[in-house]
Amino acid sequence: MKVDGKHFRSIWRERDGWSVGAIDQRRLPHEFVVAKLTSCEDAAVAIRDMLVRGAPLIGATAAYGMALAMREDSSDAGLKHAYDTLVVARPTAINLKWALDEMRTALAPVERAEAAYARADEIVEQDVEINRGIAGNGLKLIEAIVAKKKPGETVNVLTHCNAGWLATVDWGTATAPIYLAHERGIKVHVWVDETRPRNQGASLTARELGHHGVPHTVIPDNTGGHLMQHGMVDLAIVGTDRVAANGDVCNKIGTYLKALAAHDNGVPFYVALPSPTIDFAVDDGIRDIPIEQRSGTEVTDMTGRTADGRLETVRIVPEGSPVANYAFDVTPARLVTGLITERGVLKPDRASLAAAFPERIAAAAE
Ligand code: MRU
Repeated sequence: MKVDGKHFRSIWRERDGWSVGAIDQRRLPHEFVVAKLTSCEDAAVAIRDMLVRGAPLIGATAAYGMALAMREDSSDAGLKHAYDTLVVARPTAINLKWALDEMRTALAPVERAEAAYARADEIVEQDVEINRGIAGNGLKLIEAIVAKKKPGETVNVLTHCNAGWLATVDWGTATAPIYLAHERGIKVHVWVDETRPRNQGASLTARELGHHGVPHTVIPDNTGGHLMQHGMVDLAIVGTDRVAANGDVCNKIGTYLKALAAHDNGVPFYVALPSPTIDFAVDDGIRDIPIEQRSGTEVTDMTGRTADGRLETVRIVPEGSPVANYAFDVTPARLVTGLITERGVLKPDRASLAAAFPERIAAAAE
């Protein structure tokens, strides 16, 4: 997708053929800085410190982290050390483990450093292809709304967090149908939840939509229900960090509340889901998906640009007040209208997921 008119991906192999470039998302929207990752540890830190974030991009970064590790030590011990280092970098997005398992399988029988880069490149390209599939399948939903409800009018989509191209390698998941609709000349407007405490919506989604020319409005997190009550949202599309076998959806904290509001107001609530985000090893999302708890400073402090151009961090909570910072929540499948996948729009239930992705069930059983 475009930044200042130039096409970018969120992660790439540098021209030297071995180091990895990634956009430092901690500095957005104020500064566009590219970070260079040169070791497995760099990749682990990039994931842990949220230089990169978003489930698919976390997976892609881990794959390259494994490739960087294999350059240094391609022994069995080296492979195990890289896997163990990367797999704990963040707990909730299952794409991390998926990518590392893919890498481990690909590397078991071969000369490792070269094969690792080859498989990591494939994972990256596969992410773009999957998101193109999601774009096409989600576009049909937007087209149906235009045809049934709003010929020639603007379709209003609400999204939460950043499930845009910055969270993936390109296109995004929740944003993929929006970008495609925009490209096809359909009028779309996006309500962007700011997404406290890290403000991925305000900082990242707004920035990427703006650079790509998609009309959007940033709203405080608590606004969605009001907009839905007044017919100002035609559909919600969010991303996800992990979908359980029963169709429960784990995503950025606050997603559940939007799903409840959508349900109460008859607004379709869709989740854009790349297949590596399905976790067939988890039967019940609410009970079993681990929810990351992050530093309290994300809640107590806010960083922004001052009128004279400086970046400053200020405290907004009284000294001594305890804070809680659950990074994700789980939306029960019954509140989800459909899962937009690369293989079609599925019902959020075990049978539909299993029928669409039988190979993933087989892999989970191994
Ligand atoms: O904590 P983050 O910023 O990594 O959380 C990201 C999200 O919750 C995204 O919506 C999700 O990973 C889907 S990304 C396509």
